[in-house]
Amino acid sequence: MKPGILVARAVFPEVLARLAEHFEVESNQEDEIYSQQQLTDRLQGKQGALITGSARINEQVLAAVPGLRMVANMAVGYDNIDTAACERFQVLASNTPDVLNETTADFGWALMMATARRITEAEHWLRAGKWTKWRYDSFIGPDLHDSTLGIIGMGRIGQAIARRSTGFQMQVLYHNRSRLAPELEQAANQAQFVSKEQLLRESDHVILVLPYSAATHHTIAGAELALMKPTATLTNIARGGIVDDQALIQALRNKTIAAAGLDVFENEPALHPDFLDLTNVVLTPHIASASEKTRRAMANCAADNLIAGLSGQRPPNLLTSFPVQA
Ligand code: DGY
Repeated sequence: MKPGILVARAVFPEVLARLAEHFEVESNQEDEIYSQQQLTDRLQGKQGALITGSARINEQVLAAVPGLRMVANMAVGYDNIDTAACERFQVLASNTPDVLNETTADFGWALMMATARRITEAEHWLRAGKWTKWRYDSFIGPDLHDSTLGIIGMGRIGQAIARRSTGFQMQVLYHNRSRLAPELEQAANQAQFVSKEQLLRESDHVILVLPYSAATHHTIAGAELALMKPTATLTNIARGGIVDDQALIQALRNKTIAAAGLDVFENEPALHPDFLDLTNVVLTPHIASASEKTRRAMANCAADNLIAGLSGQRPPNLLTSFPVQA
């Protein structure tokens, strides 16, 4: 008998086929978003699950599914998994780091550039038939080249963003839980480690790439936005909850900062409706890792982890620390 697994969201068909070679698979190709109760019900009798950020694996779920041995997240961020509870219940957990670094860094740049150069605002205006003449000050905004880039969260994606800034002759400031080794700072366009406050005061473009946790909740709220330059932009490709969305809406309305680019939101996909009325914000639906190659790599990485973990081998991207049982 093959072990049973739940693939909790729609996934590339070839990845389902791969998983079916190892497991009895219950899939969800209709891509229904399960409530916590539906998730718990579907997990009954399963040894593993391939999940995404929409599935919350917490104490209640783990207590209700005693046969569960592993959850494999198809994301690098894993704030949807209570890893401490997984340790207590001896349920392995994994994520998909590295495979998305470059794609996510590309997108961070795309969003930051669209925000600074007002690309979507200008396109909406053009599509609305408002373009009747060229004007010297139409859609003028800040430059990226020769400006100061502030990166909050200097992990692998943050470093990939910094590396790309050399072509724009930018100065890079960063803030992180800990300082990088000198050779990593060097490779990250000679990034300079500074306090969050200094970074916010001095940067022309601030980009957020840090993981979400209780400690990083509202890293950017009203007080932080007040430190930024009125000409500055803020780009968030990390997680909703890192920014206080209500405070950001206020800051965008009052022009405390010039503009924001947001790929992630508090309570997404039900983002705050006031964002939709603002012209100085670029909004995208959590797609920073969405290149075809990278999404396939993420799905296969999650599958590799699950196949390893449930066959008693150490999953390549294990998040839990107790020994893997055969
Ligand atoms: C990630 O990998 O964490 C992306 O945000 C997709 O959820």
